[in-house]
Amino acid sequence: AISTRVENLLAQMTLDEKIGQLNQYNDDGAATGPVTVDGDKENQIRRGELGSMLNVFTVSRMRQFQDIAMQSRLKIPLMFGQDVIHGYKTTFPIPLGEAASWDLEAIRRSARIAATEASAGGVQWTFAPMVDISRDPRWGRVMEGAGEDPYLGSLIAKARVEGFQGEKIGAINSVMACAKHFAAYGAVEAGRDYNSVDMSDRLLWEIYLPPYKAALDAGVATFMTSFNDLNGIPATGNTYLYRDILKGKWNFSGFVVSDWGAIGEMINHGFVKNGKEAARAAITAGTDIDMESRAYKNNLAQLVTEGKVDIALVDDAVRRVLRKKFELGLFDDPYKYFDEKREKEEMNNPEHTKAAREIAAKSIVLMKNNNNLLPISKDVNSIAFIGPLVKEYKQNLGFWSIELNKVDYDQFIVSQWDGLKNKVGKNTKLLYAKGCEIEGTDKGGFAEAIETAKKADIVILSIGERRDMSGEAKSRSDIHLPGVQEDLVKAIQATGKPVVVLINAGRPLIFNWTADNVPAILYSWWLGSEAGNAIADVLFGDMNPAAKLPVTFPREVGQIPIYYNHFNTGRPAECDDCTSYRSAYTDLKNSPKFAFGHGLSYTTFEYKELKLSKTKMNKNETIEVSFKLSNTGKYDGEEVVQLYLRDRVGSVVRPVKELKDFKKIMLRKGETKTITFVIDNNKLCFYDRKLEYKSEAGEFDLMIGSSSDDILLRSEFELVD
Ligand code: IFM
Repeated sequence: AISTRVENLLAQMTLDEKIGQLNQYNDDGAATGPVTVDGDKENQIRRGELGSMLNVFTVSRMRQFQDIAMQSRLKIPLMFGQDVIHGYKTTFPIPLGEAASWDLEAIRRSARIAATEASAGGVQWTFAPMVDISRDPRWGRVMEGAGEDPYLGSLIAKARVEGFQGEKIGAINSVMACAKHFAAYGAVEAGRDYNSVDMSDRLLWEIYLPPYKAALDAGVATFMTSFNDLNGIPATGNTYLYRDILKGKWNFSGFVVSDWGAIGEMINHGFVKNGKEAARAAITAGTDIDMESRAYKNNLAQLVTEGKVDIALVDDAVRRVLRKKFELGLFDDPYKYFDEKREKEEMNNPEHTKAAREIAAKSIVLMKNNNNLLPISKDVNSIAFIGPLVKEYKQNLGFWSIELNKVDYDQFIVSQWDGLKNKVGKNTKLLYAKGCEIEGTDKGGFAEAIETAKKADIVILSIGERRDMSGEAKSRSDIHLPGVQEDLVKAIQATGKPVVVLINAGRPLIFNWTADNVPAILYSWWLGSEAGNAIADVLFGDMNPAAKLPVTFPREVGQIPIYYNHFNTGRPAECDDCTSYRSAYTDLKNSPKFAFGHGLSYTTFEYKELKLSKTKMNKNETIEVSFKLSNTGKYDGEEVVQLYLRDRVGSVVRPVKELKDFKKIMLRKGETKTITFVIDNNKLCFYDRKLEYKSEAGEFDLMIGSSSDDILLRSEFELVD
């Protein structure tokens, strides 16, 4: 059994060898954090003082390191990790974009393909999924999560973990997943990366912790600490998080890795004086592996010898790491994941490309479509494709992609221009103008863009962020469309031509003029290597959009944090213009520009005939909720039907609306289906004053709709004792 093998090995290890297993280094030449130069890496591996590495690219380079590890006294294999966030070679939409699909099967599949390719590339462990809830689009890492909702976020966390880990850890096409960043990293103050988090325990348990718990329940192998302090205690040294919650109450048996340098950063936090105190705080709190701080390597042995750290803490951490190495099968074959033949085959699998195209198309949100301007007819005579992102094919990859990983797979990326060219018939003339840069004030390209627009029957404008404007360390205080791009939209709209705007970004942007004036808008996030084809599929109706926003889009930065599941307050503003002595702004509406759950289709849906099997239930009973959904438009299409509840009165106040269930339904045009949801006691529970998760008798509002602000069916029921 693995536990016997772990104990046998542990018994043979010196203290330095044990600490080695808790030490992780980056490879030279690639970095996802500040670099520490380390000249003696090879000898450290040879002495058994390094347990794992990150950012080692290509099987052949990993093999070189593993060869050295095999020269160490106990021949404990190295383990290789990497940020495989939204694909490996085949790049899928950024996680926030993929979350917009509300398609759990597609999300699982994308993670499965990423794992298949990454494991063929030698990677055994991905630092994903990021399951941090965020209510703040200024935060650059909002792109890497599943948005603002704990229910949707939990289901997506589960799908991603299952996708990455596959059948079991140790299967040849599986990678260990890592739920990050524990905990509440998405709530950094003012959306500034690495900043502090101060939040009530109830908010933590109710909104922020559920996706981590869902990842754990799905069997996630590892967790990563977060950079922030939580209520004054840096997460990496936070015993409440790791000893009490994760390894205590939740009984997590895998290991915890620090974020890059986060153990050492506790000195900057002002939590510890030096590296030695940092190492002690981290190991005591339950951080098992030190990524790139060298705090364990430089201090743990002394701390143990001086009796300041109990060897049992070190042993526990080492056991957790060794167990995973055994589960991965590395002790049976340290070279198991290094197969150049498999690497080549998996990187050229057409099924992966096909899936990337489908999933990318599923992630595009139709924000607006006045007079059914979209889809565009394939017989149109001429199209002007204008904007700084039309031909910039690498931008499609978004942050955290193979490009960042320094592996050159450029030829696989389909530009938006090529996607359109592949789609239209020979008789359609395609015109191009760049118009302007993404940033800057130069309007020199406007004249050419206007002339180009005038020559076409329809204009598509591709604008947005640069891909590295969101991501780690990419927080922004201003999230309006950058540069003069909105001026370009105005200039093109003034030509009188029908205009479709395509917005590419890693976060919700603010584009009020465009939203109010342009007839059709698609939000395409960063869609990955098949972006060009997927966008063309949606523009021309080969794919009917069905995505829904997983996050609220504000009107202005001043509304942030903005989220749909807020409390009612004592003076709710009953309408957007009721501001007098109300919880409202005097200079801005309360409502968002686009609400959580919003997203249109080329077809229309009718919701009718809501029925509840009963209107009173006790905690052991359930209520069956059913209604009819009809496709009343001209296209086949999918609709994400959303069920929200409101607990009218609680011993602690309850949100105006909480997503409790959803279904993605495919309907042919003219078709009607009966949709059923089941309300059980679990859907009615919340954390009370004592942090007990329970329901309270009383009345509930039930709302079903196509978005959090488009409720089409309402009813009510009562929970009785
Ligand atoms: O996995 C990441 C983490 O999310 C942010 N800092 C760097 C780590 C390793 O690349």
